[in-house]
Amino acid sequence: MDVPSSLPAFCVLLPGSATMIGALSGSSAKFPIRVENFQNVPKMSWNNNNCSMAVVNDALLADCHSSSKRWLKLENSSLVLQSVEKQDEGNYEFCFNDTKVLFTLKVYEPIIDARCFPNGTADLTCDVDSSESMMFKWLLNNSRLDANEACIKAGGKKVRLEKTVPGEFVCTVTHSHGFMRTRPIVLSCSYGE
Ligand SMILES: *[C@@H]1O[C@H](CO)[C@@H](O)[C@H](O)[C@H]1NC(C)=O
Ligand SMILES: *[C@@H]1O[C@H](CO)[C@@H](O)[C@H](O)[C@H]1NC(C)=O
Ligand SMILES: *[C@@H]1O[C@H](CO)[C@@H](O)[C@H](O)[C@H]1NC(C)=O
Ligand SMILES: *[C@@H]1O[C@H](CO)[C@@H](O)[C@H](O)[C@H]1NC(C)=O
Ligand SMILES: *[C@@H]1O[C@H](CO)[C@@H](O)[C@H](O)[C@H]1NC(C)=O
Repeated sequence: MDVPSSLPAFCVLLPGSATMIGALSGSSAKFPIRVENFQNVPKMSWNNNNCSMAVVNDALLADCHSSSKRWLKLENSSLVLQSVEKQDEGNYEFCFNDTKVLFTLKVYEPIIDARCFPNGTADLTCDVDSSESMMFKWLLNNSRLDANEACIKAGGKKVRLEKTVPGEFVCTVTHSHGFMRTRPIVLSCSYGE
């Protein structure tokens, strides 16, 4: 990806393109920067906004935008941005020791849906707009939905309930470095007479 740079010219980009980082909404995004500590205050830009930076106890406080000050913690040579939200998406540039590294952050939000059919069955769907591998599981009233109650298809993205049962359904998504629960859905099927 060709990203117009806002960082100073002495900050040299090593060959290679921006690394895609995917994170589930509410979980942490890890930018592997391979830096053990901050000798100098690193430079950073987010979506081409220069950020003003402060280093406090091996964490960075980045002010990239009038409304969003964010902490980035250094953990295991990665910068960790906690509780990411959709608005954290975009292009991140860091400059350490005159070397520039680029990342593109994508934040995944699962989409859930429930549909009742006139014959008393129902479909639940849970999906994430990503080609990365993720694991989908369903809970009913906080217990794992079992195969007697439901036919689980497409690796958990789709569930057919043979009969609708009262209770709260929650989809859980596990990603290589993140986990999230969706808001609960309560099935309310009305079948008329
Ligand atoms: C960001 O900072 C660099 C270096 O100080 C400067 O050349 C560039 O114009 C700035 N970019 C923006 C968008 O302010
Ligand atoms: C950055 O430079 C300092 C001082 O020259 C050096 O000690 C440090 O290891 C360098 N860090 C990286 C990530 O290259
Ligand atoms: C750091 O890496 C070690 C070894 O890979 C791992 O055991 C540990 O959980 C990691 N810590 C964090 C905070 O990610
Ligand atoms: C119930 O209706 C749905 C949607 O029309 C259909 O796909 C499903 O096979 C039906 N199930 C039974 C047990 O009749
Ligand atoms: C789930 O909990 C609700 C409220 O406590 C209860 O009415 C319902 O019967 C429970 N459903 C199942 C399948 O246990």
